[in-house]
Amino acid sequence: MKGIILAGGLGKRLRPLTHAGPKQLIPIANKPVIHYAIEDLVASGVIEIGIIVGYSAERINAIKDACGDGSKWNTKITYIEQDAPRGLAHAVWTARDFLGQDSFVMYLGDNIISGGIGKFVKEFFASDADASLLLAKSRTPERFGVAEIKDNNIVSVEEKPVKPKSDTVIVGVYIFRPSIMRQIEVLSPSARNELEITHAIQGLLSSGRKVLHHTISGWWDDAGTGEDVLHANEMILSALKPYNAGTVEEGASIHGAVEIGKGTVVRKGAKIIGPVKIGDNCTIANASIGPYTSIGDLSEIISGTVESSILMSGCLIDIGAKKISGSLLGKNSKIRNGDTMRLMIGEDSDISV
Ligand code: DAU
Repeated sequence: MKGIILAGGLGKRLRPLTHAGPKQLIPIANKPVIHYAIEDLVASGVIEIGIIVGYSAERINAIKDACGDGSKWNTKITYIEQDAPRGLAHAVWTARDFLGQDSFVMYLGDNIISGGIGKFVKEFFASDADASLLLAKSRTPERFGVAEIKDNNIVSVEEKPVKPKSDTVIVGVYIFRPSIMRQIEVLSPSARNELEITHAIQGLLSSGRKVLHHTISGWWDDAGTGEDVLHANEMILSALKPYNAGTVEEGASIHGAVEIGKGTVVRKGAKIIGPVKIGDNCTIANASIGPYTSIGDLSEIISGTVESSILMSGCLIDIGAKKISGSLLGKNSKIRNGDTMRLMIGEDSDISV
């Protein structure tokens, strides 16, 4: 069984963060989103992974640097270039030589799922179905692919319908037999000018092929918006175990599950309320951190309060008595106290002061 991870797309809803790099590399609890997909695929028995990348050398190299040849996970990773974001079905078509005649798991590189995909994969291979979909209930089904189910069978699927037929949505992990290629081959671009995988699945259903489904029991997130990313961070941190590879000075206070990376110093006067994950070589001085906060390597929190936020590596915070909450800070962001604001912000930034 092979796996493919779709790591193309433009991540428009996460700008300005995605101006600097692909959304699949946004860190959740200090680990790029795409690493969770690789781990799930490997744990479910996938032996070879193809990652769909594209559109600029910078984006492609960033993904290659973050995932390498797969040896870190005891797997083999092949990179497959897509010329433009022409849709999920187009991405599968682009991978046809890599996939050959194998059945495969397709994992959207911006999805993060609790509890793994082992059972989902096992159920499929015990059946003679042509495909299987991972499903979940959603309060906003119009944002996703929607499945209509009758007598426990999927009867139709629609991509982001204005009037959803149900509140059951398609989570970004799918399993296919090679027969899906025949459906993709005859697709035409949708209204949003993409080759939709949902249309290919509807093709299987319309021609009487069996499409199984498995409903997810835990949480999942499609790291599509800032809120989704912060929610995923919160959920992953909820299962954090305390671990300290750094130095905590006497007079610093630590409560709950806090992970401190090597070379990190938590100075006297600092207060950390878990769950909080702090990377390597950081300094936490006269500041209060947490709960639900991830801080990337080489960051310095000199003063202030930081809660429910993600700070990527190399950030500097020195904000006195002020608080940062529900925020996503890109690499090397610096926020300092002062009566005058000095800003250097990218397109689509969202700031409240
Ligand atoms: O997250 C689940 C949803 O994912 C499903 O419910 C929808 O049915 C499915 O179409 C998909 O919707 P999105 O609008 O969220 O897909 P997005 O454009 O964000 O792309 C998902 C991943 O696939 C992302 O990692 C980018 C990558 N991608 C996307 C396109 C359009 C590619 O690699 N190539 C592409 O051409």
